[in-house]
Amino acid sequence: MDRFIIEGERPLVGTIPVNGAKNAALAIMAGALLAEDAVTLHNVPRLIDVQVMSEVLGSLGVAVRPQGGGSLRIDASTLTDHTCPYDLVTKMRASFFVLGPILARLGQARIPLPGGCAIGSRPVDLHLKGLRSLGAKVTIEHGYAEATADRLVGAPVYLDYPSVGATETIMMAACLAEGTTVIDNCAQEPEIVDLAQFLSKCGARIEGAGTEQIVVHGRRRLGGCEHATIPDRIEAGTFMIAAAITRGDLTLEGIRPELVASLISKLQEIGATVAVLDQDVVRVAGDGPLQAADVRTMPFPGFPTDLQAQIMSLLAVLPGTSVISETVFENRFLHVDELLRMGANIKTEGNVAVIQGVAELTGAPVRATDLRAGAALVLAGLAARGQTVVSDVHYIDRGYQDIEKKLSAVGGKISRTGVTDPILA
Ligand code: UD1
Repeated sequence: MDRFIIEGERPLVGTIPVNGAKNAALAIMAGALLAEDAVTLHNVPRLIDVQVMSEVLGSLGVAVRPQGGGSLRIDASTLTDHTCPYDLVTKMRASFFVLGPILARLGQARIPLPGGCAIGSRPVDLHLKGLRSLGAKVTIEHGYAEATADRLVGAPVYLDYPSVGATETIMMAACLAEGTTVIDNCAQEPEIVDLAQFLSKCGARIEGAGTEQIVVHGRRRLGGCEHATIPDRIEAGTFMIAAAITRGDLTLEGIRPELVASLISKLQEIGATVAVLDQDVVRVAGDGPLQAADVRTMPFPGFPTDLQAQIMSLLAVLPGTSVISETVFENRFLHVDELLRMGANIKTEGNVAVIQGVAELTGAPVRATDLRAGAALVLAGLAARGQTVVSDVHYIDRGYQDIEKKLSAVGGKISRTGVTDPILA
């Protein structure tokens, strides 16, 4: 039960390297199940979620070998098991993404339903609807989704909502289906484009990834490949907001500016200085007067829900009234109560938060309730007067590799402590 101890009010100045994208790596690791030869992935972040996905693949009879330096070799030629343990899938929702690939490879899959999580009920109906459209028989029994199909058959699939996970599930399954699948109203997130590029290197025929319509021409088999994941736009975005909230000046290296265009635009509206210095370098400074702004989360290319909590921390200390509308998840304001403990003035009504900027936040003991909420509290702590203690940082470790080291290297005063006292834990 680690905690972060943060002494605030220090501007962050310097350069931070950006890691590979968690959400791309997780989807690609699931996609590796489609390949009958080994694949080697590069730029894979060292995160708890990646570890959990490795365990999921291992439980299916697949060999996952770290190669050092952020590389991972996955050999799914030995994929034999079509079911994986309840404990692993409920630990991390993305484990459910193995359903489509296992079904496509083995003709049957039995995966526990992921259940709810802190940010909402998060159903998987669109994943299942898509697989049914491809001819699978899908039932829910004893808490498991069971899918069978001798061979999936390509078909038109319309998604009622552009779900990232459902788009990935259907795109992956369609790679080994007979004939052509056309997915309409699909998600356009960059991680889907990265997954499609990985699958294409393995021999899949995919058109339109990154647009509203993806067309997949099924193949009999996929082989191996080498692939490097794209940079993590949410990690990068979190540090960009860190520059603004601490009135610092940070340069992010290894980023793709077009992946964070909505955030760049919002930070400029707020008054921060943002400069694209190179095709993979962005600099953000919180020097001038900053002001309130409204934010509406949307599927890509809209403002990402995964940066909503972090930008709320920033808006909490800017003069004026800001309104955040969270349209992607139904219950993603758990960080609000923690920010209130630090002196923020925020009111929520349904999926809308009204933020009245305060002159300063004050350090307090707070608890990370989920990954991005935890990141938001770290940002708030870096800006606040006095000491902030963030507990339950294991949530933060799910998505940020070495966050306290990266922040310390640019002048943040943040350290990790393990809590051994069972009363304190
Ligand atoms: C992915 C990301 C997550 C991000 C989210 C939205 C991964 C591992 N996680 O999650 O970090 O916050 O995209 O950008 O890539 N929905 C349904 N039925 C379904 C599926 C989804 O109603 O079958 C709803 C969800 O409840 C939610 C919305 O669609 O309200 C978006 O969810 P989705 O895009 O599927 O998110 P994930 O793929 O789970």
